[in-house]
Amino acid sequence: MKKFLVIGNPIEHSLSPKLHNYWIEKNNLKAFYEKRKLNEEDIKNIIQEIRNNNITGINVTVPFKKLIIPFVDELTDEAKQVQSVNTIYKKEDKIIGENTDARGFQEAIKMTNYTIKGKKIFILGAGGVASSLIYSLINMGATNISLSNRTIEKTKYLKEMFPSIKIIQWGKETDFDMILNATSLGLENETIQMNYQKHKSKFFYDIIYNPPKTNFLKGGEKFKNKIENGKLMFIFQAQLAFKIWHGINPKIDKEVLDLI
Ligand code: ATR
Repeated sequence: MKKFLVIGNPIEHSLSPKLHNYWIEKNNLKAFYEKRKLNEEDIKNIIQEIRNNNITGINVTVPFKKLIIPFVDELTDEAKQVQSVNTIYKKEDKIIGENTDARGFQEAIKMTNYTIKGKKIFILGAGGVASSLIYSLINMGATNISLSNRTIEKTKYLKEMFPSIKIIQWGKETDFDMILNATSLGLENETIQMNYQKHKSKFFYDIIYNPPKTNFLKGGEKFKNKIENGKLMFIFQAQLAFKIWHGINPKIDKEVLDLI
């Protein structure tokens, strides 16, 4: 029986076990997937469990996506470029750190039929997933990316990684076609303070999918903007991890969409 884990802190609300176990069952695999709350000092031991073949694969979530990097043996190209790891496995005795958030986001954007190429994007939040978003947006041809975070220090390493991005003071607005909320504010039902009525026919995207419609998305929708939550991004990053671990591309159908 192969064992898989998602590690993070907090971890209670993670839907990864539900999704992965659903696909495991659908594909008749002998495996199970659990969540585990960790502290930073436990990272070393958990990696050792992969080395010892007690665990086959790990998904990594907040706040360990960057912290875990020194503990793996090798990063895939994408994980190296975004300096963020959300999927871990062993390959030929080496522990590999992979990133599927960036491609997950890209796949999710494709599904919305929105063209990023040539667009001005404003990102709110510089947490664990921000580098994956910026990387994908640059890949998709965004011409102008601005970033704002309450704690300005956290934007600095992102500016070093992606020198073309513009840093905006928290609470200030800048011109955009698409605004991307990558903060965790929506989880607590809090609102991004902004001038919602000023915007029309723009694209409001929230990486949060629970609640499905954050106050930020409600604000965008009220003034006739296109909106989208992070559900598809979550499902696609999981699909990519599943493919890496099991060699099977699991289906994303209505049943899966209703599950999350
Ligand atoms: P981490 O920052 O540990 O990687 P995260 O969940 O990936 O955690 O990111 C949380 C994001 O939401 C951060 O951008 C955070 O801003 P800070 O860097 O200033 O902490 C943002 N965030 C959380 N609560 C917020 C609040 N009340 N107001 C503004 N931004 C908030």
